[in-house]
Amino acid sequence: MEKYRIIGGKPLYGEVEISGAKNAAVAIIPAALMVEGVCRIENVPEISDTDMLLTILSHLGAKCRMLNKSTVEIDCTRVQINEAPYDLMRKIRASYYLIGAMLGRFGRAKTTMPGGCNFGVRPIDQHIKGMTALGADVEVSGGFVFATARGGRLKGAEIYLDKVSVGATMNVMLAACMAEGRTVIDNAAREPHIVDLANFLNSMGADIRGAGTDSIRINGVRKLHGGSYTIIPDQIEAGTYMAAVAAAGGEIRVSNVIPKHLDCISAKLREMGVEVEEDEDSVVVRRMRPLRRTNIKTQPYPGFPTDMQPQLCAVLSTAQGTSVITEGVWDNRYKYVNELRKMGAQIQVDGKTAIVEGVDRLTGAPVAACDLRAGAAVVIAGLCAEGETWVEDIQYIERGYQDLVGKLRALGADIELVEEDIPAPAMPQIC
Ligand code: UD1
Repeated sequence: MEKYRIIGGKPLYGEVEISGAKNAAVAIIPAALMVEGVCRIENVPEISDTDMLLTILSHLGAKCRMLNKSTVEIDCTRVQINEAPYDLMRKIRASYYLIGAMLGRFGRAKTTMPGGCNFGVRPIDQHIKGMTALGADVEVSGGFVFATARGGRLKGAEIYLDKVSVGATMNVMLAACMAEGRTVIDNAAREPHIVDLANFLNSMGADIRGAGTDSIRINGVRKLHGGSYTIIPDQIEAGTYMAAVAAAGGEIRVSNVIPKHLDCISAKLREMGVEVEEDEDSVVVRRMRPLRRTNIKTQPYPGFPTDMQPQLCAVLSTAQGTSVITEGVWDNRYKYVNELRKMGAQIQVDGKTAIVEGVDRLTGAPVAACDLRAGAAVVIAGLCAEGETWVEDIQYIERGYQDLVGKLRALGADIELVEEDIPAPAMPQIC
């Protein structure tokens, strides 16, 4: 087992290049399963979630070839299997996109219930509602999801999602793009990765309009053909480095981004006294003075992203005054608060609300990454804390951040990956 060792207190300077968007890549790779021909996908982030999905596709018979570190060619022409490998599937949340992709192409799918970060209950009832409306019989039993299109091919339908769900919107979009006739998804999620998935599918021959609005219209096509596509930059990875410099101080350029996707994060950082300047495809983030308090409420896009909530909570831990964070998407997304408390943060959680009383400084401690973004939060806290922080369970972080250690080191952070056998210091005894 490996850990991160961080010596905090060093401001960050320099430039960091953002990788392709994880949440787009984890839908686009399964979408390649629907394509007869070669898909060349560029700007694929080098993270364990994408590795896992490529392995799953290979198990199903796809030919996957890395052309360089971030470009992959996937050929699923000869794939005929509609049953995904159990052990691999249950490790990641996004494996559920294989249900929509298999159902759309083969009219049948058998997958496991999805894994992924544990933010409390993560139902897939809206995915099932959408697929059922498209004419599938869907059954969940024994940890598996079985779906079969009645008559062998799905049929377009009008679907109203009861909850704004990223996963259900993308999954129903996947299933519908090869269905017979027209599908309308209302109350759809509007995240940038939904637009990216629609653009990918359209470039392979699908007919999807309105992605990025709450009403998506899909005219089913018989076949998808090969082509090339470049994944958008990762909004959350960019936001994480913006948060890191806000916490540690300094000035960095975050490059290869779409500044519009960062508006809500930039706005919050500015409220906290951080300077953010936008260029064409980069933002410069500068923090020279003490941070001010602010309030945050997470919401579906274009609201403040829930996937940035833990990182901003870490930043607010040392802001002047009391901040209030309200989690508007997940039921249980504050498990990491216990880890920040070990570092001296003063945070009270009551249901979906966290009250953060800014302290003068955090102190390094042995902490764990409870999930992907929680892991990013403790790293950010470690960067601004006094002394040494050890982060364990970093496999969660590596699910979604390409070369976090290398990128932070290039900005001047004192962080390294160490092997387990170097013992982390024990927590000091409090008498
Ligand atoms: C995706 C992201 C995750 C992010 C989340 C919200 C991926 C792989 N993961 O997760 O990082 O935090 O969007 O931006 O892209 N819900 C239902 N029924 C459903 C589906 C969802 O009630 O069938 C609820 C969930 O419990 C949650 C809310 O809807 O409260 C939003 O979930 P959703 O947008 O579906 O999240 P994911 O797609 O799982």
